[in-house]
Amino acid sequence: MGFELIGTGSYAPGPPVTNDALSRVMHTSDEWISKRSGIRQRHFAGEGVGASDLATEAAKRAIEAARIKPQEIDFIVFATMTPDHIFPGPGALLAHKLGLDGVPALDIRQQCAAMLFGVQLIDGLMRSGVAKTILFVGAEAHAGFMPWTDWDCLEPGSTKEASDEAKAKADEHRALAVLFGDGAGALIFRATDRDAGLVKAKLHTDGAGGHLLYIKAGGFLTRPYMNHEMVEKREFIPRMDGREVFRYAVTKLPETARALLAETNTPIEKIDWFLAHQANKRINEYIREHLGVAEEKMPMNIDRYGNTSAGTIPILIDELTRAGKLKKGELNMMLALGAGIHWGCALVRW
Ligand code: ACO
Repeated sequence: MGFELIGTGSYAPGPPVTNDALSRVMHTSDEWISKRSGIRQRHFAGEGVGASDLATEAAKRAIEAARIKPQEIDFIVFATMTPDHIFPGPGALLAHKLGLDGVPALDIRQQCAAMLFGVQLIDGLMRSGVAKTILFVGAEAHAGFMPWTDWDCLEPGSTKEASDEAKAKADEHRALAVLFGDGAGALIFRATDRDAGLVKAKLHTDGAGGHLLYIKAGGFLTRPYMNHEMVEKREFIPRMDGREVFRYAVTKLPETARALLAETNTPIEKIDWFLAHQANKRINEYIREHLGVAEEKMPMNIDRYGNTSAGTIPILIDELTRAGKLKKGELNMMLALGAGIHWGCALVRW
């Protein structure tokens, strides 16, 4: 029993926030950001808007595109690293917002690599007969960990600048803050007898790299788990060793892609699209060049969204589907690496 993609949707909150706008809350520039990452703008969820809200919008669009009744969904997989609450997970909240109380909803936490682990999970759920119509959503509301408070400076048309003191404080996290944006992508998969679905996934996890990108505060290692000192030290903002994460991605992803191609006896020319996570344009260019893949086969949208973590590959798939580019029968490779460190590559036939 394989699976096919029957509907896609995505959602990005609010107006786009340009690199120039970010230079009003931190010492940064369009030149630094675009040259180092390829990012030109991103979106941010508003105050009180959570990943489950973004997911709901994307899921409604996917349900409409699939032309199914929401009640046909018999399993939900929700991927995020920015849940509305520590618990309950946002899968339950999404199910409720869609009127799907009673439908099992599973939260997964593989950050930017979530789609890869998701596709392996979906394959298992379909093959075991547990589910026939699965809603997979990746959604992120990173806005809550951004290192500035002067959100009004980012409003469209604003010329307001944060104070030098506020900018200097935000600068401590500027290399991280410029990379992330908010958004959600939703994909509906259905069991099929057609030769479609997961060909093979190669997944890896290496907790030894956990310290390379993590949030120190808010876990249950301390009593209480959140205190004033953590807030003062702003330990709710992720710590990232950007260079090391970069090095990890450009080493592990080509290595894993080659191994997957060899194990499945797949010539690289047979692959129609390389659906890569969008963390940094330079990471993807490096991977593409090392694998010898033509530029047009690895679509990018990082310039418009930044890194939407678990939302990225679903948003990309939605855009390509709506543009009529992803077609039934094509062979695609997904690639991603995220905090954990989790990474993987998967061959999927649509
Ligand atoms: N604007 C202007 N200057 C900046 C900024 C900024 N936003 N950020 C850092 N700088 C400065 C630094 O202070 C430093 O200045 P100095 O030389 O005077 O000390 C200089 O620019 C270089 O800083 P680095 O941090 O060394 O910059 P680097 O070239 O490594 O690029 C970057 C940083 C873009 C973060 C890069 O390392 C990267 O993309 N890494 C990968 C990160 C990634 O993929 N993360 C997501 C993982 S997926 C997940 O699961 C969420």
